[in-house]
Amino acid sequence: MGRVICIANRKGGVGKTTTAINLAACLGVVKAPTLLIDCDPQANATSGLGVRVEQDTATLYDVLLGECPLQDALAKTTIEHLDVLPATHDLIGVEIELLNIDNREYVLHGLLRRLAEYEYILLDCPPSLGLLTVNALTAADSVLIPLQCEYYALEGLRSLLETIELLRARLNPDLVIEGLLLTMFDQRNRLSRQVEEEVRQFFPDQVFHTVIPRNVRLGESPSHGLPIILYDPSCRGAQSYVALAQEIRTRTSTPVVAQAASEEKANAGESLSEKNPAFAFVETTRGGIDE
Ligand SMILES: Nc1ncnc2c1ncn2[C@@H]1O[C@H](COP(=O)(O)OP(=O)(O)O)[C@@H](O)[C@H]1O
Ligand SMILES: [Mg+2]
Repeated sequence: MGRVICIANRKGGVGKTTTAINLAACLGVVKAPTLLIDCDPQANATSGLGVRVEQDTATLYDVLLGECPLQDALAKTTIEHLDVLPATHDLIGVEIELLNIDNREYVLHGLLRRLAEYEYILLDCPPSLGLLTVNALTAADSVLIPLQCEYYALEGLRSLLETIELLRARLNPDLVIEGLLLTMFDQRNRLSRQVEEEVRQFFPDQVFHTVIPRNVRLGESPSHGLPIILYDPSCRGAQSYVALAQEIRTRTSTPVVAQAASEEKANAGESLSEKNPAFAFVETTRGGIDE
């Protein structure tokens, strides 16, 4: 089985789906066989890649409930080496249906273990921490966390890191952090630069070198059903996702949660949270991890 990367953040609108679509596309164009699984009932990854779901199209919903073999639900995209397991709004019902299933946290994990043909499997998560996200985190080798470059960048990160710790303790001990990805960076905005500086200071080894700029073309491309690399390959947004794909292909993962407990970060946390209350939660998180 390939590398399963879950793209998660408890906050909505931080660039999870944009990253899932465009990272998957950039891996696909360099001929790395890639599958994007749309785990969000909003189904934006499905529509953003131009995959049309008709009444009788099999989706992740059918696959999770055992009503359709996974292989039969895979859809092709405009990129030869990129497939999608699509979703529709119906997926919201799966959270309740799964409650009655044994080992409900492992359903996706069990399904993915049988998939041998992909080098990368990306999971686009909803902003909640419900059973869909838990299934994704249990099935994943690593988590990629997009952080929007704004004042409350780290809001929601605390509960996500706590969930990851719980997951590691109970369901998926091998789960690591693939990296924190700064998104919607605005070079002209002092706050963007400040957020970058502070996040890098706090998580020195876990932030991707690549930063995704705020770029109008990235916002436009989903409405054309195209990843940015096909919609406007020369724009800055496209180039940044190409760079991210390269970085992922060469980078080794580090378990950020374990490192977050280090003394060095304890000191950094104090000074940062004094300066910026948005960082205050990290101290609480770290306390929880140390226990
Ligand atoms: N780097 C970016 N530059 C400009 N717009 C972006 C960027 N990343 C995301 N967007 C836009 O912001 C909105 C939220 O992004 P999205 O990827 O859907 O977030 P999430 O999946 O975390 O909810 C979307 O309209 C998307 O097109
Ligand atoms: Mg999304």
